[in-house]
Amino acid sequence: MSKPFDVIVIGAGPGGYIAAIRAAQLGFTVACIDEWKNDKGGPAPGGTCTNVGCIPSKALLQSSEYFEHAGHAFADHGIGLKDLSIDVAKMLSRKDTVVKQNNDGILYLFKKNKVSFFHGRGSFMKAADGSYQIVVGEESLIGKHVIVATGSNARALPGAPFDEETILSNDGALRIGAVPKTLGLIGSGVIGLEMGSVWRRLGAQVTVLDALPTFLCAVDEQIAKEAHKAFTKQGLKIELGVQVGEIKKGKQGVSVAYTNAEGEAQTLALDKLIVSIGRVPNTVGLNAEGVGLKLDERGAIVVDAGCRTNLPNVWAVGDVVRGPMLAHKAEEEGVAVAECIAGQHGHVDFNLVPWVIYTSPEIAWVGQTEQQLKATGRAYKAGSFPFMANGRARALGDTTGMVKMLADAATDEILGVHIVGPFASELITEACVAMAFRASSEDIARICHAHPSLAESTKEAALAVDKRTLNF
Ligand code: FAD
Ligand code: NAI
Repeated sequence: MSKPFDVIVIGAGPGGYIAAIRAAQLGFTVACIDEWKNDKGGPAPGGTCTNVGCIPSKALLQSSEYFEHAGHAFADHGIGLKDLSIDVAKMLSRKDTVVKQNNDGILYLFKKNKVSFFHGRGSFMKAADGSYQIVVGEESLIGKHVIVATGSNARALPGAPFDEETILSNDGALRIGAVPKTLGLIGSGVIGLEMGSVWRRLGAQVTVLDALPTFLCAVDEQIAKEAHKAFTKQGLKIELGVQVGEIKKGKQGVSVAYTNAEGEAQTLALDKLIVSIGRVPNTVGLNAEGVGLKLDERGAIVVDAGCRTNLPNVWAVGDVVRGPMLAHKAEEEGVAVAECIAGQHGHVDFNLVPWVIYTSPEIAWVGQTEQQLKATGRAYKAGSFPFMANGRARALGDTTGMVKMLADAATDEILGVHIVGPFASELITEACVAMAFRASSEDIARICHAHPSLAESTKEAALAVDKRTLNF
Protein backbone atom coordinates (compact mmCIF):
# COMPACT_ATOMS: atom_id res chain seq x y z
CA MET A 1 0.00 0.00 0.00
CA SER A 2 1.52 3.35 -1.06
CA LYS A 3 1.61 6.27 1.35
CA PRO A 4 0.00 9.38 -0.19
CA PHE A 5 1.56 12.86 0.07
CA ASP A 6 0.80 16.21 -1.52
CA VAL A 7 4.52 16.82 -2.08
CA ILE A 8 7.45 14.39 -2.22
CA VAL A 9 10.93 15.90 -2.14
CA ILE A 10 13.86 13.75 -3.30
CA GLY A 11 17.08 14.95 -1.65
CA ALA A 12 17.51 16.73 1.67
CA GLY A 13 20.33 19.12 0.77
CA PRO A 14 19.66 22.87 1.14
CA GLY A 15 17.38 22.81 -1.91
CA GLY A 16 15.33 19.81 -0.80
CA TYR A 17 15.03 20.21 2.95
CA ILE A 18 14.10 23.87 2.69
CA ALA A 19 11.51 23.09 -0.03
CA ALA A 20 10.04 20.39 2.25
CA ILE A 21 9.78 22.73 5.24
CA ARG A 22 8.26 25.57 3.20
CA ALA A 23 5.72 23.17 1.61
CA ALA A 24 4.77 21.89 5.08
CA GLN A 25 4.41 25.47 6.35
CA LEU A 26 1.99 26.07 3.47
CA GLY A 27 -0.23 23.24 4.71
CA PHE A 28 0.80 20.35 2.44
CA THR A 29 1.50 16.80 3.58
CA VAL A 30 5.18 16.36 2.75
CA ALA A 31 7.69 13.51 2.49
CA CYS A 32 11.40 14.13 2.12
CA ILE A 33 13.71 11.31 1.01
CA ASP A 34 17.48 11.35 1.42
CA GLU A 35 20.07 8.61 1.06
CA TRP A 36 23.13 10.21 2.71
CA LYS A 37 24.56 7.99 5.47
CA ASN A 38 26.63 9.04 8.47
CA ASP A 39 29.58 6.89 9.59
CA LYS A 40 27.19 4.64 11.53
CA GLY A 41 24.91 4.13 8.55
CA GLY A 42 22.23 6.44 9.95
CA PRO A 43 20.62 9.39 8.16
CA ALA A 44 22.67 12.52 7.58
CA PRO A 45 20.34 15.05 5.93
CA GLY A 46 21.81 18.30 4.66
CA GLY A 47 23.36 17.02 1.45
CA THR A 48 26.71 18.06 0.07
CA CYS A 49 26.42 21.40 1.85
CA THR A 50 26.18 19.97 5.35
CA ASN A 51 28.23 16.77 4.97
CA VAL A 52 31.07 17.53 2.55
CA GLY A 53 30.63 21.13 1.46
CA CYS A 54 29.81 24.51 2.95
CA ILE A 55 29.68 23.56 6.62
CA PRO A 56 32.73 21.29 7.08
CA SER A 57 34.87 23.49 4.81
CA LYS A 58 34.00 26.56 6.85
CA ALA A 59 34.78 24.68 10.07
CA LEU A 60 38.28 23.83 8.75
CA LEU A 61 38.77 27.33 7.36
CA GLN A 62 38.01 28.72 10.83
CA SER A 63 40.35 26.31 12.64
CA SER A 64 43.18 26.91 10.22
CA GLU A 65 42.66 30.68 10.33
CA TYR A 66 42.91 30.65 14.13
CA PHE A 67 46.12 28.64 13.77
CA GLU A 68 47.56 31.13 11.30
CA HIS A 69 46.55 34.08 13.47
CA ALA A 70 48.10 32.45 16.52
CA GLY A 71 51.33 31.85 14.58
CA HIS A 72 51.59 35.25 12.90
CA ALA A 73 49.03 37.94 13.71
CA PHE A 74 48.92 37.52 17.50
CA ALA A 75 52.50 38.74 17.89
CA ASP A 76 51.49 42.16 16.50
CA HIS A 77 48.91 42.42 19.28
CA GLY A 78 51.57 41.69 21.91
CA ILE A 79 50.29 38.17 22.47
CA GLY A 80 53.10 35.66 22.77
CA LEU A 81 52.60 31.95 22.27
CA LYS A 82 55.16 29.23 22.76
CA ASP A 83 55.07 25.74 21.23
CA LEU A 84 52.17 26.35 18.89
CA SER A 85 50.90 23.06 17.46
CA ILE A 86 47.98 21.71 15.50
CA ASP A 87 46.16 18.52 16.45
CA VAL A 88 44.67 17.60 13.06
CA ALA A 89 42.63 14.71 14.51
CA LYS A 90 40.97 17.07 16.98
CA MET A 91 40.35 19.68 14.29
CA LEU A 92 38.66 17.03 12.11
CA SER A 93 36.63 15.70 15.00
CA ARG A 94 35.41 19.22 15.83
CA LYS A 95 34.43 19.59 12.16
CA ASP A 96 32.51 16.29 12.36
CA THR A 97 30.69 17.54 15.47
CA VAL A 98 29.66 20.71 13.65
CA VAL A 99 28.37 18.58 10.75
CA LYS A 100 26.40 16.34 13.09
CA GLN A 101 24.83 19.36 14.83
CA ASN A 102 23.55 20.45 11.43
CA ASN A 103 22.31 16.93 10.49
CA ASP A 104 20.45 16.71 13.81
CA GLY A 105 19.10 20.23 13.37
CA ILE A 106 17.48 19.26 10.07
CA LEU A 107 15.91 16.10 11.56
CA TYR A 108 14.54 18.29 14.36
CA LEU A 109 13.13 20.78 11.83
CA PHE A 110 11.43 17.93 9.92
CA LYS A 111 9.72 16.81 13.14
CA LYS A 112 8.76 20.36 14.08
CA ASN A 113 7.19 20.95 10.65
CA LYS A 114 5.66 17.45 10.38
CA VAL A 115 7.71 16.50 7.32
CA SER A 116 7.89 12.68 7.02
CA PHE A 117 11.52 11.71 6.47
CA PHE A 118 12.52 8.55 4.59
CA HIS A 119 16.13 7.38 4.62
CA GLY A 120 17.17 5.73 1.36
CA ARG A 121 17.36 6.24 -2.38
CA GLY A 122 14.21 7.56 -4.00
CA SER A 123 13.39 6.35 -7.54
CA PHE A 124 10.54 7.24 -9.86
CA MET A 125 8.49 4.14 -10.63
CA LYS A 126 5.40 4.73 -12.68
CA ALA A 127 3.16 7.71 -13.06
CA ALA A 128 -0.48 6.90 -12.19
CA ASP A 129 -3.59 9.13 -12.32
CA GLY A 130 -1.46 12.25 -12.72
CA SER A 131 0.39 11.33 -9.50
CA TYR A 132 3.91 9.89 -9.16
CA GLN A 133 5.00 6.73 -7.42
CA ILE A 134 8.34 6.98 -5.69
CA VAL A 135 9.98 3.93 -4.20
CA VAL A 136 12.42 4.12 -1.26
CA GLY A 137 13.68 0.67 -0.33
CA GLU A 138 10.60 -1.32 0.75
CA GLU A 139 8.40 1.77 0.96
CA SER A 140 6.21 3.11 -1.79
CA LEU A 141 5.03 6.73 -1.76
CA ILE A 142 2.55 8.48 -4.02
CA GLY A 143 2.88 12.21 -4.57
CA LYS A 144 0.77 14.82 -6.40
CA HIS A 145 3.91 16.94 -6.77
CA VAL A 146 7.55 15.84 -6.79
CA ILE A 147 10.49 18.17 -6.20
CA VAL A 148 13.81 16.71 -7.33
CA ALA A 149 16.78 18.14 -5.39
CA THR A 150 19.42 15.46 -5.91
CA GLY A 151 22.41 17.83 -6.03
CA SER A 152 25.78 17.28 -7.68
CA ASN A 153 28.98 15.24 -7.49
CA ALA A 154 32.63 16.20 -7.94
CA ARG A 155 33.96 15.91 -11.48
CA ALA A 156 37.03 13.68 -11.83
CA LEU A 157 39.80 14.13 -14.41
CA PRO A 158 39.81 11.44 -17.09
CA GLY A 159 42.28 8.70 -16.11
CA ALA A 160 42.53 9.88 -12.50
CA PRO A 161 39.54 8.55 -10.55
CA PHE A 162 39.12 9.66 -6.94
CA ASP A 163 40.48 7.14 -4.44
CA GLU A 164 39.97 9.63 -1.56
CA GLU A 165 43.39 8.65 -0.19
CA THR A 166 45.78 10.29 -2.65
CA ILE A 167 43.55 11.73 -5.37
CA LEU A 168 40.85 13.55 -3.49
CA SER A 169 37.50 15.11 -4.25
CA ASN A 170 36.00 17.62 -1.82
CA ASP A 171 35.07 14.63 0.34
CA GLY A 172 38.62 13.35 0.89
CA ALA A 173 39.96 16.92 0.99
CA LEU A 174 37.94 17.46 4.17
CA ARG A 175 39.33 14.30 5.80
CA ILE A 176 43.12 14.55 5.28
CA GLY A 177 44.45 13.02 8.51
CA ALA A 178 47.82 14.79 8.74
CA VAL A 179 49.21 17.95 7.18
CA PRO A 180 50.70 16.85 3.83
CA LYS A 181 54.17 18.18 3.05
CA THR A 182 53.15 18.86 -0.54
CA LEU A 183 49.60 19.33 -1.75
CA GLY A 184 48.49 19.99 -5.30
CA LEU A 185 45.11 21.24 -6.45
CA ILE A 186 43.83 21.11 -9.98
CA GLY A 187 41.37 23.96 -10.43
CA SER A 188 41.86 27.39 -8.88
CA GLY A 189 38.12 27.92 -8.44
CA VAL A 190 36.21 28.17 -5.20
CA ILE A 191 37.14 24.77 -3.73
CA GLY A 192 40.75 25.03 -4.90
CA LEU A 193 41.24 28.34 -3.13
CA GLU A 194 39.33 27.45 0.04
CA MET A 195 40.86 23.99 0.56
CA GLY A 196 44.28 25.17 -0.62
CA SER A 197 44.12 27.93 2.01
CA VAL A 198 43.22 25.48 4.79
CA TRP A 199 46.22 23.21 4.23
CA ARG A 200 48.66 26.03 3.40
CA ARG A 201 47.83 27.70 6.71
CA LEU A 202 48.58 24.44 8.49
CA GLY A 203 51.99 24.16 6.85
CA ALA A 204 51.57 22.32 3.53
CA GLN A 205 53.42 23.55 0.46
CA VAL A 206 50.49 24.16 -1.88
CA THR A 207 50.48 24.43 -5.69
CA VAL A 208 47.29 25.20 -7.58
CA LEU A 209 47.10 24.52 -11.32
CA ASP A 210 44.39 25.91 -13.60
CA ALA A 211 43.76 25.53 -17.30
CA LEU A 212 42.48 29.07 -17.78
CA PRO A 213 44.95 31.92 -18.25
CA THR A 214 42.85 34.32 -16.15
CA PHE A 215 42.58 33.98 -12.38
CA LEU A 216 38.96 33.79 -11.11
CA CYS A 217 37.53 34.88 -14.44
CA ALA A 218 33.96 35.22 -13.09
CA VAL A 219 35.12 37.74 -10.48
CA ASP A 220 35.50 41.47 -11.14
CA GLU A 221 39.01 41.82 -12.65
CA GLN A 222 40.25 44.42 -10.17
CA ILE A 223 39.07 42.31 -7.21
CA ALA A 224 40.56 39.11 -8.69
CA LYS A 225 43.92 40.87 -9.19
CA GLU A 226 43.95 42.06 -5.57
CA ALA A 227 43.05 38.57 -4.33
CA HIS A 228 45.73 36.95 -6.50
CA LYS A 229 48.33 39.31 -5.04
CA ALA A 230 47.25 38.45 -1.48
CA PHE A 231 47.18 34.66 -2.02
CA THR A 232 50.59 34.68 -3.73
CA LYS A 233 52.06 36.73 -0.86
CA GLN A 234 50.69 34.14 1.57
CA GLY A 235 52.67 31.43 -0.24
CA LEU A 236 49.94 29.83 -2.37
CA LYS A 237 51.63 28.95 -5.67
CA ILE A 238 49.09 29.51 -8.45
CA GLU A 239 49.96 28.47 -12.01
CA LEU A 240 47.52 29.54 -14.70
CA GLY A 241 47.14 28.54 -18.34
CA VAL A 242 48.47 25.03 -17.75
CA GLN A 243 47.56 21.84 -19.53
CA VAL A 244 47.40 18.90 -17.16
CA GLY A 245 48.80 15.65 -18.55
CA GLU A 246 49.35 12.26 -16.95
CA ILE A 247 48.56 11.78 -13.28
CA LYS A 248 50.45 8.80 -11.86
CA LYS A 249 49.94 7.32 -8.44
CA GLY A 250 53.11 6.03 -6.79
CA LYS A 251 53.64 3.92 -3.65
CA GLN A 252 53.44 7.16 -1.73
CA GLY A 253 51.84 10.16 -3.29
CA VAL A 254 51.16 11.11 -6.85
CA SER A 255 52.90 12.88 -9.71
CA VAL A 256 51.22 15.35 -12.03
CA ALA A 257 52.72 16.07 -15.43
CA TYR A 258 51.68 19.35 -17.01
CA THR A 259 52.65 21.93 -19.57
CA ASN A 260 52.94 25.42 -18.14
CA ALA A 261 51.78 28.66 -19.77
CA GLU A 262 55.21 29.04 -21.43
CA GLY A 263 54.82 25.62 -23.06
CA GLU A 264 57.41 23.91 -20.84
CA ALA A 265 56.88 20.35 -19.60
CA GLN A 266 56.74 20.16 -15.80
CA THR A 267 56.14 17.49 -13.16
CA LEU A 268 54.88 17.97 -9.63
CA ALA A 269 55.57 15.29 -7.02
CA LEU A 270 52.85 15.50 -4.38
CA ASP A 271 51.75 13.77 -1.20
CA LYS A 272 48.10 14.52 -1.98
CA LEU A 273 46.18 15.88 -4.94
CA ILE A 274 42.78 17.56 -4.74
CA VAL A 275 40.87 17.74 -8.02
CA SER A 276 38.45 20.65 -7.95
CA ILE A 277 37.49 21.27 -11.57
CA GLY A 278 33.75 21.75 -11.07
CA ARG A 279 30.79 19.51 -10.28
CA VAL A 280 28.30 17.48 -12.30
CA PRO A 281 24.55 17.31 -11.67
CA ASN A 282 23.49 14.08 -9.96
CA THR A 283 20.52 12.02 -11.16
CA VAL A 284 22.00 8.58 -10.41
CA GLY A 285 19.35 6.05 -9.39
CA LEU A 286 16.45 8.45 -9.91
CA ASN A 287 15.16 6.53 -12.94
CA ALA A 288 14.73 9.83 -14.77
CA GLU A 289 14.75 8.10 -18.15
CA GLY A 290 12.11 5.59 -16.99
CA VAL A 291 9.55 8.37 -16.55
CA GLY A 292 10.81 10.58 -19.37
CA LEU A 293 12.31 13.33 -17.19
CA LYS A 294 14.34 15.46 -19.60
CA LEU A 295 18.07 16.00 -18.98
CA ASP A 296 20.43 18.28 -20.92
CA GLU A 297 23.81 17.30 -22.39
CA ARG A 298 25.54 17.96 -18.99
CA GLY A 299 23.10 15.64 -17.21
CA ALA A 300 21.24 18.53 -15.54
CA ILE A 301 17.46 18.32 -15.30
CA VAL A 302 15.97 20.74 -17.80
CA VAL A 303 13.76 23.34 -16.09
CA ASP A 304 12.13 26.64 -17.00
CA ALA A 305 12.71 29.88 -15.05
CA GLY A 306 10.22 28.63 -12.43
CA CYS A 307 11.97 25.23 -11.93
CA ARG A 308 9.25 23.30 -13.82
CA THR A 309 10.52 20.18 -15.60
CA ASN A 310 9.00 18.70 -18.77
CA LEU A 311 6.72 16.49 -16.59
CA PRO A 312 3.60 18.06 -15.12
CA ASN A 313 3.92 18.70 -11.35
CA VAL A 314 7.54 17.57 -11.29
CA TRP A 315 9.92 20.34 -10.26
CA ALA A 316 13.70 20.43 -9.82
CA VAL A 317 15.91 22.78 -7.80
CA GLY A 318 19.52 23.37 -6.74
CA ASP A 319 22.71 21.90 -8.19
CA VAL A 320 20.82 19.40 -10.35
CA VAL A 321 19.49 22.25 -12.54
CA ARG A 322 21.07 25.21 -14.39
CA GLY A 323 22.50 28.22 -12.58
CA PRO A 324 25.17 28.68 -9.93
CA MET A 325 25.87 25.69 -7.67
CA LEU A 326 25.32 27.50 -4.38
CA ALA A 327 23.45 26.46 -1.25
CA HIS A 328 21.50 29.71 -0.93
CA LYS A 329 20.48 29.58 -4.61
CA ALA A 330 19.17 26.02 -4.01
CA GLU A 331 17.27 27.22 -0.91
CA GLU A 332 15.69 30.15 -2.73
CA GLU A 333 14.55 27.84 -5.52
CA GLY A 334 13.14 25.38 -2.94
CA VAL A 335 11.06 28.12 -1.32
CA ALA A 336 9.92 29.50 -4.68
CA VAL A 337 8.75 26.07 -5.89
CA ALA A 338 6.82 25.32 -2.68
CA GLU A 339 5.12 28.70 -3.03
CA CYS A 340 4.30 28.10 -6.72
CA ILE A 341 2.74 24.72 -5.82
CA ALA A 342 0.58 26.65 -3.35
CA GLY A 343 -0.52 28.99 -6.15
CA GLN A 344 1.71 31.84 -5.02
CA HIS A 345 4.32 33.67 -7.11
CA GLY A 346 7.68 32.46 -5.81
CA HIS A 347 10.66 33.39 -7.97
CA VAL A 348 14.44 33.78 -7.76
CA ASP A 349 16.32 36.78 -9.14
CA PHE A 350 19.66 35.29 -10.26
CA ASN A 351 21.19 38.75 -10.52
CA LEU A 352 20.80 39.10 -6.76
CA VAL A 353 22.39 35.77 -5.78
CA PRO A 354 25.60 36.69 -3.95
CA TRP A 355 28.85 34.73 -4.22
CA VAL A 356 31.37 34.37 -1.42
CA ILE A 357 34.80 32.74 -1.41
CA TYR A 358 35.75 32.16 2.22
CA THR A 359 39.49 32.65 1.87
CA SER A 360 41.49 35.28 3.67
CA PRO A 361 40.92 37.88 2.36
CA GLU A 362 37.34 36.86 1.67
CA ILE A 363 35.91 37.64 -1.76
CA ALA A 364 32.22 38.47 -2.16
CA TRP A 365 30.15 39.98 -4.88
CA VAL A 366 26.64 40.51 -6.17
CA GLY A 367 25.37 41.81 -9.50
CA GLN A 368 27.44 42.72 -12.53
CA THR A 369 31.22 42.92 -12.82
CA GLU A 370 32.94 45.82 -14.57
CA GLN A 371 33.91 43.52 -17.47
CA GLN A 372 30.27 42.38 -17.87
CA LEU A 373 29.04 45.99 -17.98
CA LYS A 374 31.70 46.88 -20.58
CA ALA A 375 30.72 43.84 -22.67
CA THR A 376 27.07 44.87 -22.72
CA GLY A 377 27.91 48.51 -23.37
CA ARG A 378 26.09 49.74 -20.28
CA ALA A 379 27.30 53.17 -19.15
CA TYR A 380 28.37 53.02 -15.50
CA LYS A 381 30.22 54.88 -12.76
CA ALA A 382 32.64 53.08 -10.43
CA GLY A 383 33.75 53.92 -6.90
CA SER A 384 36.03 52.02 -4.57
CA PHE A 385 37.36 52.37 -1.06
CA PRO A 386 40.36 50.50 0.38
CA PHE A 387 40.15 48.83 3.81
CA MET A 388 43.58 50.40 4.41
CA ALA A 389 41.72 53.68 5.04
CA ASN A 390 39.10 52.13 7.37
CA GLY A 391 39.61 52.53 11.12
CA ARG A 392 37.99 49.23 12.10
CA ALA A 393 40.13 47.32 9.58
CA ARG A 394 43.27 48.95 11.01
CA ALA A 395 42.18 47.99 14.54
CA LEU A 396 41.54 44.44 13.35
CA GLY A 397 44.96 44.37 11.72
CA ASP A 398 43.40 43.29 8.45
CA THR A 399 43.57 46.03 5.86
CA THR A 400 43.87 44.03 2.64
CA GLY A 401 41.41 44.77 -0.12
CA MET A 402 38.57 47.11 -0.92
CA VAL A 403 34.87 47.61 -1.53
CA LYS A 404 33.99 48.51 -5.10
CA MET A 405 30.60 49.75 -6.24
CA LEU A 406 29.28 50.04 -9.79
CA ALA A 407 26.26 52.20 -10.54
CA ASP A 408 24.32 53.14 -13.66
CA ALA A 409 25.78 56.33 -15.19
CA ALA A 410 22.37 57.92 -15.71
CA THR A 411 20.12 56.67 -12.90
CA ASP A 412 22.79 55.86 -10.25
CA GLU A 413 21.10 52.50 -9.57
CA ILE A 414 23.62 50.08 -8.02
CA LEU A 415 24.53 47.42 -10.61
CA GLY A 416 27.18 45.47 -8.73
CA VAL A 417 29.17 45.44 -5.51
CA HIS A 418 32.51 43.63 -5.25
CA ILE A 419 34.47 43.14 -2.07
CA VAL A 420 37.81 41.60 -1.28
CA GLY A 421 38.77 41.92 2.36
CA PRO A 422 37.83 41.10 5.95
CA PHE A 423 34.28 39.83 6.56
CA ALA A 424 33.31 40.38 2.91
CA SER A 425 30.84 37.50 3.42
CA GLU A 426 28.89 39.58 5.93
CA LEU A 427 29.35 42.96 4.24
CA ILE A 428 27.87 41.79 0.94
CA THR A 429 24.38 41.46 2.44
CA GLU A 430 24.01 45.25 2.66
CA ALA A 431 24.62 45.35 -1.10
CA CYS A 432 22.07 42.56 -1.70
CA VAL A 433 19.43 44.41 0.33
CA ALA A 434 20.17 47.71 -1.42
CA MET A 435 20.01 46.12 -4.86
CA ALA A 436 16.81 44.22 -4.04
CA PHE A 437 15.23 47.61 -3.29
CA ARG A 438 16.89 49.02 -6.44
CA ALA A 439 18.79 51.56 -4.36
CA SER A 440 21.13 54.12 -5.86
CA SER A 441 24.70 54.62 -4.69
CA GLU A 442 23.50 57.92 -3.25
CA ASP A 443 21.01 56.02 -1.05
CA ILE A 444 23.88 54.08 0.55
CA ALA A 445 25.98 57.22 0.81
CA ARG A 446 23.18 58.97 2.76
CA ILE A 447 22.63 56.11 5.24
CA CYS A 448 24.25 56.49 8.68
CA HIS A 449 26.72 53.59 9.18
CA ALA A 450 28.07 52.73 12.65
CA HIS A 451 31.60 53.88 13.44
CA PRO A 452 34.02 52.24 13.51
CA SER A 453 32.81 49.46 11.27
CA LEU A 454 33.97 47.72 8.14
CA ALA A 455 30.60 48.59 6.61
CA GLU A 456 31.68 52.24 6.52
CA SER A 457 33.82 51.13 3.56
CA THR A 458 30.64 50.32 1.63
CA LYS A 459 29.31 53.80 2.37
CA GLU A 460 32.67 55.29 1.32
CA ALA A 461 32.65 53.22 -1.91
CA ALA A 462 29.18 54.67 -2.59
CA LEU A 463 30.55 58.17 -1.95
CA ALA A 464 33.45 57.32 -4.28
CA VAL A 465 30.96 56.69 -7.10
CA ASP A 466 30.24 60.43 -6.84
CA LYS A 467 33.98 61.17 -6.35
CA ARG A 468 33.52 62.46 -2.80
CA THR A 469 35.00 59.98 -0.31
CA LEU A 470 35.49 61.53 3.09
CA ASN A 471 38.27 59.32 4.45
CA PHE A 472 40.45 58.66 1.43
P1 FAD B 1 22.98 18.64 -2.32
O1 FAD B 1 23.41 19.45 -1.18
O2 FAD B 1 24.03 17.95 -3.11
O3 FAD B 1 21.96 17.56 -1.75
C1 FAD B 1 21.44 16.54 -2.52
C2 FAD B 1 20.99 15.43 -1.61
O4 FAD B 1 20.21 14.51 -2.34
C3 FAD B 1 22.14 14.62 -1.00
O5 FAD B 1 21.94 14.45 0.38
C4 FAD B 1 22.04 13.28 -1.73
O6 FAD B 1 22.46 12.19 -0.91
C5 FAD B 1 20.55 13.20 -1.98
N1 FAD B 1 20.17 12.32 -3.10
C6 FAD B 1 20.63 12.32 -4.36
N2 FAD B 1 19.95 11.42 -5.12
C7 FAD B 1 19.04 10.86 -4.30
C8 FAD B 1 18.03 9.88 -4.49
N3 FAD B 1 17.80 9.34 -5.69
N4 FAD B 1 17.30 9.53 -3.42
C9 FAD B 1 17.50 10.08 -2.20
N5 FAD B 1 18.42 11.02 -1.97
C10 FAD B 1 19.19 11.42 -3.02
N6 FAD B 1 27.71 26.70 -1.48
C11 FAD B 1 27.53 27.86 -0.84
O7 FAD B 1 26.53 28.54 -1.08
N7 FAD B 1 28.40 28.30 0.12
C12 FAD B 1 29.52 27.59 0.44
O8 FAD B 1 30.29 28.00 1.30
C13 FAD B 1 29.74 26.37 -0.24
N8 FAD B 1 30.83 25.64 0.06
C14 FAD B 1 31.02 24.44 -0.59
C15 FAD B 1 32.18 23.73 -0.31
C16 FAD B 1 32.42 22.54 -0.97
C17 FAD B 1 33.67 21.76 -0.64
C18 FAD B 1 31.47 22.04 -1.91
C19 FAD B 1 31.69 20.73 -2.60
C20 FAD B 1 30.33 22.75 -2.20
C21 FAD B 1 30.10 23.97 -1.55
N9 FAD B 1 28.99 24.75 -1.84
C22 FAD B 1 28.80 25.95 -1.20
C23 FAD B 1 27.96 24.31 -2.82
C24 FAD B 1 26.77 23.69 -2.09
O9 FAD B 1 27.22 22.64 -1.26
C25 FAD B 1 25.75 23.19 -3.08
O10 FAD B 1 25.43 24.22 -3.99
C26 FAD B 1 24.49 22.75 -2.38
O11 FAD B 1 24.77 21.71 -1.47
C27 FAD B 1 23.44 22.29 -3.39
O12 FAD B 1 22.30 21.90 -2.70
P2 FAD B 1 21.30 20.82 -3.30
O13 FAD B 1 20.21 20.71 -2.31
O14 FAD B 1 20.98 21.16 -4.68
O15 FAD B 1 22.12 19.45 -3.37
P1 NAI C 1 34.87 25.94 -9.94
O1 NAI C 1 33.97 25.96 -11.10
O2 NAI C 1 34.73 27.00 -8.91
O3 NAI C 1 36.38 25.99 -10.44
C1 NAI C 1 36.87 25.04 -11.31
C2 NAI C 1 38.22 25.52 -11.85
O4 NAI C 1 38.84 24.41 -12.47
C3 NAI C 1 38.11 26.62 -12.88
O5 NAI C 1 38.96 27.68 -12.55
C4 NAI C 1 38.50 25.93 -14.19
O6 NAI C 1 39.19 26.79 -15.06
C5 NAI C 1 39.41 24.83 -13.68
N1 NAI C 1 39.47 23.65 -14.55
C6 NAI C 1 38.45 22.98 -15.12
N2 NAI C 1 38.90 21.92 -15.81
C7 NAI C 1 40.26 21.90 -15.67
C8 NAI C 1 41.29 21.05 -16.12
N3 NAI C 1 41.03 19.99 -16.89
N4 NAI C 1 42.56 21.35 -15.78
C9 NAI C 1 42.84 22.42 -15.01
N5 NAI C 1 41.89 23.27 -14.54
C10 NAI C 1 40.62 23.01 -14.86
O7 NAI C 1 34.71 24.47 -9.32
P2 NAI C 1 35.06 23.88 -7.90
O8 NAI C 1 36.12 24.66 -7.21
O9 NAI C 1 35.25 22.43 -8.14
O10 NAI C 1 33.74 24.09 -7.09
C11 NAI C 1 32.51 23.57 -7.58
C12 NAI C 1 31.38 24.45 -7.21
O11 NAI C 1 31.06 24.27 -5.84
C13 NAI C 1 31.67 25.95 -7.32
O12 NAI C 1 31.53 26.41 -8.63
C14 NAI C 1 30.62 26.50 -6.42
O13 NAI C 1 29.42 26.54 -7.13
C15 NAI C 1 30.53 25.47 -5.32
N6 NAI C 1 31.33 25.92 -4.18
C16 NAI C 1 30.96 27.07 -3.56
C17 NAI C 1 31.69 27.56 -2.49
C18 NAI C 1 31.30 28.85 -1.89
O14 NAI C 1 30.21 29.33 -2.20
N7 NAI C 1 32.11 29.43 -1.04
C19 NAI C 1 32.83 26.83 -1.95
C20 NAI C 1 33.15 25.65 -2.70
C21 NAI C 1 32.39 25.21 -3.75
